[in-house]
Formats: sequence, structure tokens, C-alpha cells
Amino acid sequence: MHTPFIYLVLMLVGLQGQQPASSSATAASLNFEFFKTEVQPIFLNKRPGHARCIACHSSGTPLRLQPLSPGSAAWNEEESRKNFEAVRRVALPGNLKSPLLMHPLAEAAGGDFFHSGGKHWNSQNDPEWQALKAFVLGQAAN
Ligand code: HEC
Repeated sequence: MHTPFIYLVLMLVGLQGQQPASSSATAASLNFEFFKTEVQPIFLNKRPGHARCIACHSSGTPLRLQPLSPGSAAWNEEESRKNFEAVRRVALPGNLKSPLLMHPLAEAAGGDFFHSGGKHWNSQNDPEWQALKAFVLGQAAN
């Protein structure tokens, strides 16, 4: 009785293996340079009525960014790498439901229900939100 099922599984596994290489080439992947130049500044920007992302997300929250070094207004290369790794968990390549996009976006604009850190964008047309979206979709730096 089990045999046909096993064959089915093997067949599916086999089919997976036969997919042409081009199918993976179209999948989005997160670009570090784009992250560094376009996404990280968003974490540091001040928006009216809100604390900066970094004010909360360098300690105590599950999304853990590197604290800025004293006297420094931006992250260095090593810190940026660590931030990139931390953000991977909430930026799922190609997935517009990624927490990075849904959590700080107003529910009325398509975001999720609640973010302790507030809803920083009221529209998907906001340039900052657009930059986060481009990042998740795998856009590379110019
Ligand atoms: C006032 C503090 C505060 C600010 C400012 C803030 N957050 Fe948050 N954020 C939190 C807390 C606390 C959580 C965890 C609880 C929750 O999900 O609401 C969280 C959760 C998140 C998550 C989900 C993390 C996970 O592990 O799933 C993301 C993504 C996120 N925040 C992104 C941002 C972004 C981007 C900004 C800036 C635009 C920002 N936050 C600003 C406090 C803050």
C-alpha cells in the first residue's frame, strides 16, 4: 500500500531536480549594496510623530539592529553586514507580505494590524516604503 506513495514522492523530487536553471535566476535575492545605501538610512530617519526605527530596534526587540557607534551618524561596513543579516529574517525575497513591509505600514494602506513601534507610512506610494519594497523584490544598487 505504501509503495505508490513512495513513487509519487520520488517522482516529485525528481521533477524538482529537473527544473531548468533559469527558474531560479528569476527569483529575487536581497542586495547588500541597495540595503546599505537605500534601506539603512530609513532606519535612521526621523518621521513626525514617530521615534526612529533605530531608537527601538537596537535593543529589546526581536529585530535587532546594531547600535550606532558613539559619535557616528551611520553604520560602518561590518555593522551594515550584521544589520543585513538581521533584516533577512523579516525581508523574505520577493514576498510583499514580508514583516519589514507589513509591520510599519498603516493597516488601511495594506499593512498588518499592529506594530508596537507605530505605523510609519500611510501609503504604499511613500518613497521610503517604495524603497523597502524594491529591496524585498531584489533591486540592486545603481
Ligand atoms: C517605539 C519603538 C519602535 C519603533 C520606533 C519601531 N519599532 Fe518596530 N517593533 C517594535 C517592537 C517592540 C516590536 C515587537 C512587537 C511588535 O511586533 O509589535 C517591533 C517589531 C518590528 C518588526 C517585526 C520583527 C519581527 O521579528 O518579526 C519589524 C519588521 C519592525 N518592527 C520594523 C520597524 C521599522 C522598519 C521601523 C521604522 C520605520 C520600526 N520598526 C520602528 C518597536 C519599535
